[in-house]
Amino acid sequence: MLTLGVNIDHVATIRQARRTVEPDPVAAAALAELAGADGITVHLREDRRHMQDRDVRILRETVRTHLNLEMAATDEMVGIALDIKPDYVTLVPERREEVTTEGGLNIAGQQTRMDEVVDKLQSAGIPVSLFIDPDETQIKASAATGAKFVELHTGKYVEVKGEEQAKELELLRLGCEQSLALGMRVNAGHGLTYWNTYPVAQLPGMEELNIGHSIISRAVLVGLERAVREMKQVIMGVPLS
Ligand code: PXP
Repeated sequence: MLTLGVNIDHVATIRQARRTVEPDPVAAAALAELAGADGITVHLREDRRHMQDRDVRILRETVRTHLNLEMAATDEMVGIALDIKPDYVTLVPERREEVTTEGGLNIAGQQTRMDEVVDKLQSAGIPVSLFIDPDETQIKASAATGAKFVELHTGKYVEVKGEEQAKELELLRLGCEQSLALGMRVNAGHGLTYWNTYPVAQLPGMEELNIGHSIISRAVLVGLERAVREMKQVIMGVPLS
């Protein structure tokens, strides 16, 4: 069954706006789980703009579902992951000046480095997911690293409408099919909202959707438990009332 990974980064964004202690993403993770989240996702960025090391350490102790740590493939982050041992790691590209993750990883362009990082993490028992565009070259390169998962980037799909969106959805469908055929499991995410998620949720073989900004934005207005519950319903084909 398709699962929902709730990305709680932006709870920490609100806290960091004042460099205070509230709202605590650890409390948010517990509430999201009570509301039906199947997993908790956090991105520890190099500049620590939202999640802090303390958050990830405590979440490792408190998360009852699974903890997905998104991070860049740097030596610092690999060291933190090996220490904290999340349930899985999603490797993402990262540039300091970007507002959010832009574009998928270029695995084919840095095959040796990615092979090495995936091996280091997976040898320590941490399955790795590679955040890539639904592109055949990147999918093949991802499979060559031995990574257990890919996360297909839905950024292009969410930016366009109509026929163009149908084309992007077809690329995601194909990407899912190709990844599964190469023995990888498939997640997807980025920019998904209450209005554009259902078609992605229906793609055959899709395992987990990682959704953050839209859920936390809605949570500010209607509460986190309701926002998570409603996204779970959307995934199952119940539109927002
Ligand atoms: N998946 C990955 C790999 C991401 O980097 C992000 C953003 O941190 C997301 C999913 C969630 O994206 P959004 O916040 O737009 O739902």
